[in-house]
Amino acid sequence: MKPLIAGNWKMNPNSAKEAKELFDEIKKGIKTAKSEVVVCPPFVYLSQLNGLSLGAQNDFYEEKGAYTGEISASMLKDLDIDYVILGHSERRKYFNETDEQINKKIKKSLGQGLKIIFCIGETAEERDAQKKSEVLEKQIKEGLKGVTREEMKSINIAYEPVWAIGTGNNCSVDETMSSVLFIRKTISDLYNREIADNTRILYGGSVKKDNSGSYIKDAGANGLLVGGASLNADDFVEIVKSAE
Ligand code: PGA
Repeated sequence: MKPLIAGNWKMNPNSAKEAKELFDEIKKGIKTAKSEVVVCPPFVYLSQLNGLSLGAQNDFYEEKGAYTGEISASMLKDLDIDYVILGHSERRKYFNETDEQINKKIKKSLGQGLKIIFCIGETAEERDAQKKSEVLEKQIKEGLKGVTREEMKSINIAYEPVWAIGTGNNCSVDETMSSVLFIRKTISDLYNREIADNTRILYGGSVKKDNSGSYIKDAGANGLLVGGASLNADDFVEIVKSAE
């Protein structure tokens, strides 16, 4: 399984000019990369960037109509976008996205042929209360409700402990390994062993060039979801190389 390295630019950078410069530098740097690389810029830049696999950071579960401010999966597909990030903890936290809404978005996006980076992860409080497994299991079961075995080929799961995102406090290799195993076991129970083994499980949360390699080599992750460090082309390219 080829590792998947995804850059989540979040609400950055502030101009199309900067977006293009960053994108072009990344493109140059990863020319010989053996991993699959996907860049996820804000919606407004998607149609201006090309030459690398692109992902959106969100979409909506209705096809079209009176939903002011929303973007549909079919609009993304029409732009030749490959991936969409769904269930990111910032969307759960600031926009009150529920497991049920995330599930609707996942199914709609799969129906349009998009590949999914489905984010799950526990908060610090949930971890301290020993509820991590319970939380991850619920997010997986509710997020994937109704997703078929065939559709699982387009699902990538990103394990992103909320306490590790944007804090510099990245999850240890051991803890990541145990979460990755737990997620794989949950998928195996829901589907089967083969599907679990073939589903890419990414790690995300304060991934930097000096810690990135160990998640793939030692923690059993099949890729990375990189936030802050994906806004620096040199760092992101180093991260991509560290996965090989
Ligand atoms: P970070 O963000 O790398 O800045 O911690 C990761 C993410 O939110 O996907």
